[in-house]
Amino acid sequence: VAAGTVALLLGLAGCGLVPGSVTPVDEVEFTNELAIPPLAPSRVVDGARVFSLRAQEGTTEFLPGVETRTWGFDGPYLGPTLRAERGERVAVEVTNDLDEPTSVHWHGMHLPAAMDGGPHQEVEPGGTWRPTWRIDQPAATLWYHPHPHGATEKHVYRGLAGMFLLDDDASRAADLPQEYGVDDVPVVVQDKVLDDAGQLQLSDDGSEPGTLGGTVLANGTVGAYHEVTTEAVRLRLLNGSTARTYQLGFADREMDLVATDGGLLDAPVRLEQVRLAPGERAEVVVRMEPGETTRLHSFEADLGGVVVPFAMGGNDDFDVLELRATDRLAPSPEPAWTTSAHAADDALRESDATVTREFELDDRRINGRTMDMGRIDETATVDATEVWEVRSIVPMPHTFHVHDVQFRVLTVDGDPPPPELAGPKDTVYLEPNRTYRLLMRFEDYTDPDVPYMFHCHMLLHEDEGMMGQFVVVEPGQDAGTVPEHDGGA
Ligand code: C2O
Ligand code: CU
Repeated sequence: VAAGTVALLLGLAGCGLVPGSVTPVDEVEFTNELAIPPLAPSRVVDGARVFSLRAQEGTTEFLPGVETRTWGFDGPYLGPTLRAERGERVAVEVTNDLDEPTSVHWHGMHLPAAMDGGPHQEVEPGGTWRPTWRIDQPAATLWYHPHPHGATEKHVYRGLAGMFLLDDDASRAADLPQEYGVDDVPVVVQDKVLDDAGQLQLSDDGSEPGTLGGTVLANGTVGAYHEVTTEAVRLRLLNGSTARTYQLGFADREMDLVATDGGLLDAPVRLEQVRLAPGERAEVVVRMEPGETTRLHSFEADLGGVVVPFAMGGNDDFDVLELRATDRLAPSPEPAWTTSAHAADDALRESDATVTREFELDDRRINGRTMDMGRIDETATVDATEVWEVRSIVPMPHTFHVHDVQFRVLTVDGDPPPPELAGPKDTVYLEPNRTYRLLMRFEDYTDPDVPYMFHCHMLLHEDEGMMGQFVVVEPGQDAGTVPEHDGGA
């Protein structure tokens, strides 16, 4: 480690870094049945599948007998799972019953910028926002969460988040567990600080990379177990935490990674652990023997050379979810699928790239700038293939998320990416001082006046300005002007 790095680390250590250790494994009993978010009801109106989501306050009993004040969609904590088909038009009525503006962003979704739910589409208290778009991307585990300017960390931390599952012909025909909540199980992994009164606390002491909590939740359940009745179970893992990066796996078995952020890999990849930074998803298939028990574990994370004290929060070892197999298990196929014919036509090719952009992330800035609602940072031309070269230039972890697209990681410091980064991605963990080359193409939608966002998905960093805006325009068109503040709907 260079002398400068040590000095920087000591400097930052001096400004209030508090380790967020997780309650030791043997103090958590896995006796609570895993909550499964309900599938959101929908109705078809004028050819569109219409959902509704209401952001509201409530209380949740994370710990026995303790009512914790939380926020949720259509309930006190988290939200229902939305589910739609490729090709379908969807609409969502988003109502805000909170006392402050919020928004709902469809993370990982390809859609017009005005429907994206970022900071330019805030919903005032009492207001309703009605985005609509056509689902036009491969099957995937996406999610939704608020994105209000400067307050995303708080809104997500209080509990506003849910899954948005997309299906298509290829995913339905796949040899993969498909019964929602039975052998195809959403798992939203989060960590919380509960104070002595059992209330949610966000640290405000400048801790890096944000609040690291000692209570670990799976779908809002502390010490969760799920009863497995089939030989294989598919876990749709979402890191819904605001800051913590997990290294998830099982101590006693390998698993098959089948999908990343934007959908299925080319083929399953057998591995022991998968690293998930805030915002990232991974679908894994785990096999079980009758009557046995195993636990999804977060291992001491390989944070890519992040040195103390930034490794905190990654270096705890703890369990997340217990899987309990019943004495008889229904047969499950070996994971296999053929990706749609479509996939080959849509393929991104580096040789098609005509634009290269560079992004350098320091402690809170991207290319030396912090977020400005009234500034467009990048202007992309629709259908142009682009390479984004992204690098954290400080010895601390960041992530990089781009709205509207699924990208491919071409290389990490010149080397091919590991399997968990080789599929479709919308968010990537940035190991310090390494260059990630991301290949992407913005398609279908242009709007010179309404920007999409790119940002660090460590939500404190995002709120403190580690975000930029880009518009997608027609060839030859100029970027328009964006309002510095939007009134909300
Ligand atoms: Cu999941 Cu811009 O966010
Ligand atoms: Cu960051």
